Amino acid sequence: MIEIRNLWKKYDKLQVLSGLDLTIKTGETLVILGPSGIGKSVLLKHINGITVPDEGTIDVDGIRITDLKDSHLSQALQHMGMLFQGGALFDSMNVEHNTGFYLTQHPDPKTGKRPTKSEIKERVDYALEIVGLSGTQKKMPSELSGGMRKRAALARLIVYRPSILLYDEPTTGLDPIIAMQINKLIVKTQKELKATSIVVTHDLFSALYVGDRLALMRDGKIVHIDEPDAFLRIDDPLIKFLYNTISKDPRTMKENHNG
Ligand SMILES: Nc1ncnc2c1ncn2[C@@H]1O[C@H](COP(=O)(O)OP(=O)(O)O)[C@@H](O)[C@H]1O
Ligand SMILES: [Mg+2]
Repeated sequence: MIEIRNLWKKYDKLQVLSGLDLTIKTGETLVILGPSGIGKSVLLKHINGITVPDEGTIDVDGIRITDLKDSHLSQALQHMGMLFQGGALFDSMNVEHNTGFYLTQHPDPKTGKRPTKSEIKERVDYALEIVGLSGTQKKMPSELSGGMRKRAALARLIVYRPSILLYDEPTTGLDPIIAMQINKLIVKTQKELKATSIVVTHDLFSALYVGDRLALMRDGKIVHIDEPDAFLRIDDPLIKFLYNTISKDPRTMKENHNG
């Protein structure tokens, strides 16, 4: 469980987080919706310890990470992984080395041992298979399409089997077919890793496809949070606007084609 209490963050005169409270239950996929520039990425960067709040606390599985620094912080967050908005890969490394990067850098949190080369290769091949990129091991990022780069970034994330996954705008800028592949991968990864996921997006279609609960962020706070059907019934102009942007409820598509 992740418990965020009374989180405040200001950049110069810009108050981005204003006493934000949010609880993310273990095993759920929580989607945070909100327009651009509202502070969604800032919130994720607080959860994964990149950014320190002005005030407030974040507890991850009972550990107050906002009290920790340096190696204690990275130790506490070693089971957390984030897919950054740009999905940045290392340009000078091929797909295999990109995907296996963290495994070569960190010992296994369970055994404390560094994985061998053949173990790394096996896990990299498996992660690439999950995201549908088998056979691209030797390709450089520049040889991949935008959707493939996003999937490679996802492979790099899931290869070390994090139990908490943070996704920053995973479908933004992708065409609808590729966006749907990513939505399906988020659901598949969730099942595969039995993880807790937080997905930040301004795409209600994606939110409904992947989310167990949906939250709306505004004025530095979470102003609404509920299960999808109840969320859609909330009388809020932005939720109504977003609902009008989708022509079909993506959950009906989920039942039609599994996979
Ligand atoms: N490191 C920073 N320094 C100054 N301003 C920042 C910084 N990070 C984010 N901001 C500002 O905070 C606001 C929220 O940003 P962000 O969280 O990226 O929005 P979004 O909801 O689109 O992800 C923006 O106005 C942004 O310019
Ligand atoms: Mg953002």
